[in-house]
Amino acid sequence: MKAVVLVGGFGTRLRPLTSTTPKQMLPVIDRPMLEHVIAGLARHGVDEVVLSLGYREDVFREAYPDGECAGVALKYAVEPEPLDTAGAVRFAAEAAGIDETFIVVNGDVFTDLDVSSVWRRHHEVGAEGTIALTPVDDPSRYGVVPTDAEGKVLGFVEKPPREEAPTNWINAGTYVLEPSVLQRIETGRKVSIERETFPAIVADGGLWAVRSEAYWVDAGTPATYVQIQLDLLDGLRGDPVDGVADDASIDPSAVIDRSVVMSGARIGANAVVRDSVVSMGAVVRDGALIEDSVVGPGAVVGTGSRLTGLSMLGDGASVDDHASLVGAKVPEVD
Ligand code: GDD
Ligand code: MG
Repeated sequence: MKAVVLVGGFGTRLRPLTSTTPKQMLPVIDRPMLEHVIAGLARHGVDEVVLSLGYREDVFREAYPDGECAGVALKYAVEPEPLDTAGAVRFAAEAAGIDETFIVVNGDVFTDLDVSSVWRRHHEVGAEGTIALTPVDDPSRYGVVPTDAEGKVLGFVEKPPREEAPTNWINAGTYVLEPSVLQRIETGRKVSIERETFPAIVADGGLWAVRSEAYWVDAGTPATYVQIQLDLLDGLRGDPVDGVADDASIDPSAVIDRSVVMSGARIGANAVVRDSVVSMGAVVRDGALIEDSVVGPGAVVGTGSRLTGLSMLGDGASVDDHASLVGAKVPEVD
């Protein structure tokens, strides 16, 4: 099975972390997000991945120069300019010479979803496209997908106002598509698969869906970027993972509570790190408190400072001694 993995977005909701690193290359525990995503696809039978990218493609190429990631063969399809989700799929599929049934996934989705069951259902019903659905509390941030009892899709509404969402089953960002879908996508302009292509296939009666209750999180926001890591520590996906890197240096008087401390990070005396992520090479000085927040790679938190409420420090950012930041982004973003 061949999969196109969409990784070309700007990751604006994760700025300032994504000002230097594309979203899917942000570290999750001990590896870039992308490696977790591709390893998940490989477990369900995907053996070739086409990375559909644009923004900071250099970072991906540098990380995987041999055309292999998590044991899967990698191809690169670099858009000259962002073509949006459908434009990106067509561009990548053609660049890789895909001419049979294929898979598409959003590269920021963390899931245990069984893509091979979506593949099977797709062939069973003879669909043109089959998408996985997951239930969420607030569907307004997602593509909302009502179906009939058999799973035939009745409509596709991208990010409707909460009160107008017809169901809480949403597009989980995993699709099985026939190559005929590519012909529906106009070239030379941005085309959204959610706003144009899927509604058109629905109108022709060719879109089907498979509901899944498997673990599923879109890691594209500060809250979910932290959550996917704490979920791994908490054992929500198999055995609990140890979030503290072997070569992190942690003062014996510091408290690390349900947090990730990545390689080369340093935590000072009496510092407290709770429900947070301290990235590679970051420094948390004596007596600082980090709670529900992200300290980016190489960032420095001054002595006695408090960083709480989903504060995010970008690559190499620094916070003065005795500062108190709640929900702050450093450096500031628009
Ligand atoms: N190559 C390329 N080019 N990739 C892109 C582009 C583009 O122009 N625009 C976005 N992407 C990539 C992003 O990097 C991401 O991996 C994926 O496409 C989806 O974009 P997001 O920006 O993360 O979309 P979203 O989270 O708001 O909504 C999408 O995902 C939800 C599930 O997580 C939609 O597909 C929703 O319908 C869906 O429910
Ligand atoms: Mg997303």
